[in-house]
Amino acid sequence: MVKQILNNLKTKLILKPVYKQWPGLIKAYKEWLPITNNTPIISLQEGGTPLIELKSINKIIGNNVKVYAKYDGLNPTGSFKDRGMTMAISKAKEEGCKAVICASTGNTSAAAAAYAKKGDMRSFVLIPDGYVAQGKLAQALVYGAEIIAIKGNFDKALSIVQEMSKEFPVTLVNSVNPYRLEGQKTAAFEIIDALGEAPDWLCIPMGNAGNISAYWIGFNEYFKKGISKKLPRMMGFQAEGSAPLVLGKTIENPETIATAIRIGNPVNKEKAYIVKKESEGKFNSVTDEEIIKAYKLLGKEEGIFCEPASASSIAGLLKLKKEIPKNAVIVCVLTGNGLKDPDCAIKNNDAVFKSGIEPDLEIVAKNMGF
Ligand code: F0G
Repeated sequence: MVKQILNNLKTKLILKPVYKQWPGLIKAYKEWLPITNNTPIISLQEGGTPLIELKSINKIIGNNVKVYAKYDGLNPTGSFKDRGMTMAISKAKEEGCKAVICASTGNTSAAAAAYAKKGDMRSFVLIPDGYVAQGKLAQALVYGAEIIAIKGNFDKALSIVQEMSKEFPVTLVNSVNPYRLEGQKTAAFEIIDALGEAPDWLCIPMGNAGNISAYWIGFNEYFKKGISKKLPRMMGFQAEGSAPLVLGKTIENPETIATAIRIGNPVNKEKAYIVKKESEGKFNSVTDEEIIKAYKLLGKEEGIFCEPASASSIAGLLKLKKEIPKNAVIVCVLTGNGLKDPDCAIKNNDAVFKSGIEPDLEIVAKNMGF
């Protein structure tokens, strides 16, 4: 009797539909990527991140506009860099590489370190001393990167690693590596796969401008194959104190609370200007105050914790509110997870936080206002 019940239960459980695991973006989009049968796929099952409707932003904008967040902070190391790194490291492995190198404001170093380890390689990372958020530094340390913190900014670090990769047996995995953009373009595929069409606008933070270039490649590839019928306007945003692409000139000493995009001389600037022109897009800057306002809004109203650089896409969209067409569908890219930068979170929130409370039910209840 008991056995029969158990067997019935088992059959029921087996019949219940289950979702298969997301296989990682290389396996998901293999035919769109420069992969051969000889490419070892080094993956942490990145990609397949959620596209979340932002009801509170819809309300602010009105006019039946629908805004979605592509929450790429939910990748394995907490940023969109994983999309590029799975490709760059897989191709490096295929070519017999033993060590990789990058300059980073933090996220690239975390992703490079994790994927290098997965691919059994060494990873060297150059970072601007004192300007990498704690969570990112913690990741690079735990993933076993060999970290060199320089007394200079990201731009200086990048010029050093570019030279080093020419002279020494190390593969450069910054976004000048074309495989990085190939991996990152899959985010555009995922957006179209989810919405059934390309959005009207894509709002995205820009630092070195690799990601905006990668998205544009992705949107164009689907468009050319007829999978989507339109192309989005690409709206790129930078922090006001670090806005070389908005001002059209190199910034010697970039400054912003959004350390991820504290970049004064973007290596992909030519590509970015082409994207702007081809997509009839716009580049704008947002202040640190506007970034923090959007950052807090996402946390409090949407339950989404992103890092400050990522919030610039929302801050930028809100700044362009008057220009948004009626019924528009807009995707804002949230590039990194809020846990990356705990210091920023602790300094910038409106939370109720009472400490030093006696462990007594009545006192606790009183503190809750009961
Ligand atoms: N958002 C986050 C969270 C980033 O970490 C970066 C870049 C960007 C946006 C800008 O992307 O450079 O492709 O325009 N971070 C790099 C790094 C520079 O070293 O982690 P981009």
